[in-house]
Amino acid sequence: MRKIVIAGNWKMNKTVAESVKLAADVVAAAKDIKNVVVAIAPTYLALAKVAEVLKGSNVKLAAQDVHWENQGAFTGKVSADMLKEIGVDFVIIGHSEQRTHFGETDETVNKKVKKVQSLDMTPIICIGETLAERKGGRLEAVLTTQVNGAYAGLSADEALRTVIAYEPVWAIGTGVTASDDEAQQAHAFVRSLLTKLYGDNVAQSISIQYGGSMKPENAAGLLAQRDIDGGLIGGAALKADSFLGIVTPGESIKK
Ligand code: 13P
Repeated sequence: MRKIVIAGNWKMNKTVAESVKLAADVVAAAKDIKNVVVAIAPTYLALAKVAEVLKGSNVKLAAQDVHWENQGAFTGKVSADMLKEIGVDFVIIGHSEQRTHFGETDETVNKKVKKVQSLDMTPIICIGETLAERKGGRLEAVLTTQVNGAYAGLSADEALRTVIAYEPVWAIGTGVTASDDEAQQAHAFVRSLLTKLYGDNVAQSISIQYGGSMKPENAAGLLAQRDIDGGLIGGAALKADSFLGIVTPGESIKK
């Protein structure tokens, strides 16, 4: 059985004070959620304060990125043990915004995944194609390269401790969501890649989130798809009620 994992990626939004308030609102709204794993990812700056708000709640803490080195001359970066110290559970790795604007590659994704796992945090590995890649018939080639790159050198046990987020770049922040069918097809293909790498048992146990303009209006349809096991939510995660409007339909779905 796979867990439904729904995480709010707050991106570069909310001051520390606003983050604390939103985290408290999410904790209150999610208090009766039992079956869905709920996580929120504020900015680095707000992580420590938000960690205090989440203590004792059923909401997990996620970071938006990490560096793979332990420490040193890496201006602007944060290491995995710094995240671990304040109680981070999940780390988003390889987001398309990191790939597009900040030079993230499949190789750096792989290094970050290994580092995060070495400290018992769970990587949320983001993959997804651009519109040009999809239109050019390269969807499967892109996903294959990204999955193989991210999982290079990972054992089956390590693979079991990962989450994937399939986020078609053309659907991120655009209001254009992949249709239920488009998303399901891509998810099934990603799972087939995991089957090739690790066999069916492992592949069937890894949660694959959908991300890209997911909102309360389309969440139930997407989450009902056989291979869609949650969501990575941007804009709609910036208000507790719309975020919970995505989480709640997941409560009654079994994978
Ligand atoms: P939106 O939900 O705003 O499209 O963002 C999705 C995303 O990038 C989550 O990581």
